[in-house]
Amino acid sequence: MSSFACRSLRITLLALLCCSGSGEKAFEVHVSSEKQIVEATGSLKVNCSTSCENPQVGGLETTLSKEVLEEHPRGKWKQFLVLNISQDMSLLCHFTCEEKQHSEHLNVRVYKPPAKVTLKLQPSQVFVGEAFTTECMVEAVKPLESLTLSLLHEGETLQNQTFEGAESNAIAIFNWTALTKDSLNLSCQAVLDLRPHGGHIIRSTSESQILIVIEHRPIIIIIIVVSILLVLFVTSVLLCFILGQHWHRKRTGTYGVLAAWMRLPRALRQRPG
Ligand SMILES: *[C@@H]1O[C@H](CO)[C@@H](O)[C@H](O)[C@H]1NC(C)=O
Ligand SMILES: *[C@@H]1O[C@H](CO)[C@@H](O)[C@H](O)[C@H]1NC(C)=O
Ligand SMILES: *[C@@H]1O[C@H](CO)[C@@H](O)[C@H](O)[C@H]1NC(C)=O
Ligand SMILES: *[C@@H]1O[C@H](CO)[C@@H](O)[C@H](O)[C@H]1NC(C)=O
Ligand SMILES: *[C@@H]1O[C@H](CO)[C@@H](O)[C@H](O)[C@H]1NC(C)=O
Repeated sequence: MSSFACRSLRITLLALLCCSGSGEKAFEVHVSSEKQIVEATGSLKVNCSTSCENPQVGGLETTLSKEVLEEHPRGKWKQFLVLNISQDMSLLCHFTCEEKQHSEHLNVRVYKPPAKVTLKLQPSQVFVGEAFTTECMVEAVKPLESLTLSLLHEGETLQNQTFEGAESNAIAIFNWTALTKDSLNLSCQAVLDLRPHGGHIIRSTSESQILIVIEHRPIIIIIIVVSILLVLFVTSVLLCFILGQHWHRKRTGTYGVLAAWMRLPRALRQRPG
């Protein structure tokens, strides 16, 4: 192939690329909404617009019911209300301009607020320095990656846990140790932070539960018990010794019982045998 042919081919290719490129850029489609997350079964305002001056057709494609709220006189934009969004979904905004169709997606996520937060305490009474476990549970909450569960004492965070995954129930196990003998007023807080999706923060807190912390000194108790046993033992040994001495003195002094025993007839002596 001659260098001329090669150059002309390159120019043709460039022209093709340029023209198809400019065709792509000829008009734009834009889809927007103030937030990208909506409460389950809620509705969302979506604005579907184009830079095309005179679009032939345009609209929003979804299997859900929708209403047109407002519309540009020449159809350059349409504002829709999409109803009853119950799961994560993608909305498709499309316009046709000069026989060409362009479209853009809007991903919408669904959230479920943490409705009921429960805190289980196990056990409900501990000794100072002893570890205890609390279980915090939230049911039917979405999306899990926006959720943080925190163990609170008098409104102050002791521990918190974040989540991942597609499940809708979240359980956090918190292990904590009571360091002073003051009882703890515990509660569990669920925070659903929807700000990255254009939403707000939703908080829900469980009923508070009191963990009784009691002072416990096992060494002192052992010392007291051992001392009492020791005193009892020493006393009984002393008592035995004193009684023994008394008995011995009596026996060696008068031979009373032994002498009487010896005086008994042999047959009688063998009877108790
Ligand atoms: C929809 O978007 C277009 C383009 O951004 C804007 O001009 C128009 O005012 C918007 N309509 C509403 C109802 O917000
Ligand atoms: C909303 O959608 C759900 C499932 O997608 C359906 O079961 C329910 O009947 C719908 N509610 C209304 C008011 O249309
Ligand atoms: C525990 O704390 C909560 C607030 O965090 C408070 O309403 C409640 O009265 C407290 N309970 C006790 C027994 O102090
Ligand atoms: C979670 O705990 C960490 C430290 O333990 C703290 O920095 C963070 O702010 C806490 N997050 C929330 C949401 O309370
Ligand atoms: C708490 O202890 C349990 C077992 O006792 C363990 O499975 C869990 O991972 C612990 N949690 C934390 C946050 O350390």
